[in-house]
Amino acid sequence: MKVGIIGCGNISHCHMQAYRKNPNVEVVACCDINLPRAEAYAKSYGIKSFYGSVDEMLANEKDLDSVSVCTWNNGHYECAMKAMKAHKNVLVEKPMALNAKQAVEMQKEAEKQGVVLQVGFVKRFAKTTKIFQDFQKSGTFGDIYLTKAIYTRRVGNPGGWFSDKSKSGGGPLIDLGVHVIDLSRYLMGMHKPVSVYGATFNKLGDKLNIKGIGHYHPADFDAKTNICDVEDSVIALIRFDNGAVLHVEASFTLNIKEGITTLQLFGDKGGATLEPTLEIYKDIDNYLTNITPVIEYASDVFADMFANEINHFYDCCKKHVKCLAPAEDGVVLMKILDAIYESAQTGHEVKIQ
Ligand SMILES: NC(=O)c1ccc[n+]([C@@H]2O[C@H](COP(=O)([O-])OP(=O)(O)OC[C@H]3O[C@@H](n4cnc5c(N)ncnc54)[C@H](O)[C@@H]3O)[C@@H](O)[C@H]2O)c1
Repeated sequence: MKVGIIGCGNISHCHMQAYRKNPNVEVVACCDINLPRAEAYAKSYGIKSFYGSVDEMLANEKDLDSVSVCTWNNGHYECAMKAMKAHKNVLVEKPMALNAKQAVEMQKEAEKQGVVLQVGFVKRFAKTTKIFQDFQKSGTFGDIYLTKAIYTRRVGNPGGWFSDKSKSGGGPLIDLGVHVIDLSRYLMGMHKPVSVYGATFNKLGDKLNIKGIGHYHPADFDAKTNICDVEDSVIALIRFDNGAVLHVEASFTLNIKEGITTLQLFGDKGGATLEPTLEIYKDIDNYLTNITPVIEYASDVFADMFANEINHFYDCCKKHVKCLAPAEDGVVLMKILDAIYESAQTGHEVKIQ
């Protein structure tokens, strides 16, 4: 499979390293609106061609089968649409788009062109996700009626395009919440969301002034010109058509002791914590019992997820395997995010059509 990378920033390296592990894939081109970055990227990985725009890459690389879209969030729709119109399969980073309207158009274009449009819901490809599903299939948890998904940082606003709403579409909800909302829905049984109630807060700003700790930044970051007009935290309740409820919290900045990343699922036969490690809670012989499955984790769990995601993308493109992270799920996710932002603005519950 001949692949082109669109956007040569931080996350594109995870795609690139995963493609390189698959012997059936060759990354033959890359592009970035920052041409020197595309050039340096091509040189460092031995990629034959590099370009300063998606248009140039698509015009010159007719043999490409597939692309990875790793741009800022506001480039996902445009780059994916152009690639699909040129009959390329697309793996688009999360969030799929800036809103549900764009996501629906993307899904329709993929169907029209008969190409794969996979959304970068990389947590679906984590080892713990698969193991949780194995236990779920045998009835370990019963009916999962409540999930708590938390992805909070005390000081973790990356700045750059992440904190500029015109490029990101929002803050921790669209950046971090997207991961855990999707994973929760995936593990709760893919029920249809019917309503949300959410609140966002813009109280603390980006806290780039904080000293004594390291700050993570995207490829183009300049503290002097940094814009921050996104929410710094969000809380939301999402209700599904089977009555189950998902409670989500996410933050870039929050006055807590330390950031928390956890997913807790509660069923009528058992419960589980998925992150940071998998633990299962059940009543056995009238005793409250905690179970820790013995699992050999990869030395680099993050790289392992990306390798699984990229290998699956290859299988979808070349072996016509059913996509595990299809556009239709990205559309539902964008409807949830739109509804949370609307609820936060109006102060009311928002129904999802
Ligand atoms: N799956 C994950 O865990 C994960 C983690 C981090 C980021 N991401 C996603 O990956 C995407 C990129 O994030 P990042 O951290 O790599 O950002 P980044 O700023 O480091 O890199 C983005 C690159 O895209 C380029 N770019 C922007 N618009 C473009 C366009 N229209 N055409 C070509 N190039 C363009 C920029 O010049 C930059 O080099 C975002 O959508 C982000 O949400 C996903």
